Amino acid sequence: MRKAACPGSFDPITNGHLDIISRASRLFDEVVVAVLINKSKANLFTVEERIELIREVTRDHSNVVVESSHGLLVDFCRARGIQAIVKGLRAVSDFDYELQMAQMNHSLAGVETLFMSTNPQYAFLSSSLVKEVATYGGDVSGLVPDIVLKQLRERLAR
Ligand code: PNS
Repeated sequence: MRKAACPGSFDPITNGHLDIISRASRLFDEVVVAVLINKSKANLFTVEERIELIREVTRDHSNVVVESSHGLLVDFCRARGIQAIVKGLRAVSDFDYELQMAQMNHSLAGVETLFMSTNPQYAFLSSSLVKEVATYGGDVSGLVPDIVLKQLRERLAR
């Protein structure tokens, strides 16, 4: 069984993430969306809320499962027999850090990283920008799934 992990903070999941997850689900027998803690980022949604949103928007993909991890991504992969990490690359600016993480993960555990080019429609998209634009009342519909939009609006209205 060929398994891949799609890791990230997903705070919240965007249509760019969803595009990568669904494309990966056509290449692998199982895709595990790994909600990980990125200590350098402040979060809007709890890990449980993020998992629930991802489960909701991926429920049509029968081979996609969603889990969280508080440790190293490679330990998560090892424990689940995951051979590959799939990451979306939006632009050259993503590349340096992604390459560094890919090389570190390979050197730690021999886990491969496969980069998938982001759909150009979502090349400018990030969870951080979505949160910032939404915070100031900007329209982010079309950039996140409808259920995420609803939750974002409710959260920011508080
Ligand atoms: O969506 P993000 O915040 O860009 O995702 C980054 C993430 C969470 C995938 C990365 O920080 C990560 O893998 N964190 C888990 C801890 C870990 O394994 N760190 C070493 C990476 S080489």
